[in-house]
Amino acid sequence: MSSQNGSQSLAGKIALVTGGSRGIGRAIAHSLASDGALVAVHYGKNRASADEVVASIKAAGGDAFAVGADLAKKGATQTLFSALDQELKARTGDTKFDILVSNAGIAPFVDFSSTTEDVLDEIYAVNVKSLFLVTQEAVKRLKDGGRVISMTSVAVRTPLGAVAAYSMLKAPLDNLTKWLAVELGPREITVNAVAPGVIDTDMAAFVRSPEGEAMTLGKQALKRVGKPDDIADVVSFLASPKARWVTGQVIETSGGSALTF
Ligand SMILES: NC(=O)c1ccc[n+]([C@@H]2O[C@H](COP(=O)([O-])OP(=O)(O)OC[C@H]3O[C@@H](n4cnc5c(N)ncnc54)[C@H](OP(=O)(O)O)[C@@H]3O)[C@@H](O)[C@H]2O)c1
Repeated sequence: MSSQNGSQSLAGKIALVTGGSRGIGRAIAHSLASDGALVAVHYGKNRASADEVVASIKAAGGDAFAVGADLAKKGATQTLFSALDQELKARTGDTKFDILVSNAGIAPFVDFSSTTEDVLDEIYAVNVKSLFLVTQEAVKRLKDGGRVISMTSVAVRTPLGAVAAYSMLKAPLDNLTKWLAVELGPREITVNAVAPGVIDTDMAAFVRSPEGEAMTLGKQALKRVGKPDDIADVVSFLASPKARWVTGQVIETSGGSALTF
């Protein structure tokens, strides 16, 4: 099997994609597999969706397996890595891998005044705490020359009132990206973040309504709704050898969202 440009730039590499069961993560899992990587497709609640992703990757000639862990729960990182370690040991005799894509996330639509402590706790647990802990465990296993790629949001630059707490709690990822790039530079591991604008997934289902689409396109330079593949292609680039000199960066991938005042 080969990617769109016929290259297998990730042949022999192993990737973990959190939240690979749906939306952007699903497209990323497909794209990395198409570039030749063995992909661990992580899921939270939707095992059936993760199994579908694995099956369609295999049907296209790639290789993948599913690993589950509800990242809102305490101890989720151990659950994830004990499943991943077991599978990788069985396949390679080792627990090392090459590429971490931290993509899992939630974005409850609650404005500032309606945000409860429980909602804040859940966003923090899934989008910040678990990403930190998963990255910490991954770094112990990443091979030199590896990749760390985290999914942040254009909402860090232009906070969105309808998801006020989500916007605020994506900002720490930009910070971690810079620090970790310096920390892992001596191992030639690059660390970057991708900041999508509005992408047509379950998370941003509002864009499927005529009003949501008009609002989104009104802010964008490019006049179509973003698709998961628009993000997956950028992640594939960052994972590839071609991006070896890019580190510590947040790559906004938004069709040019809110460029002018
Ligand atoms: N869509 C956008 O417009 C947009 C814009 C900017 C940034 N982003 C970011 O892009 C990433 C992916 O978003 P998306 O639009 O693809 O969202 P999505 O379609 O809602 O998918 C979310 C993914 O995260 C996983 N997930 C959610 N809660 C989890 C939990 N408690 N434990 C484990 N996994 C969990 C889901 O797994 P299960 O279904 O298996 O639970 C699913 O695979 C997120 O970090 C999001 O913040 C999205």
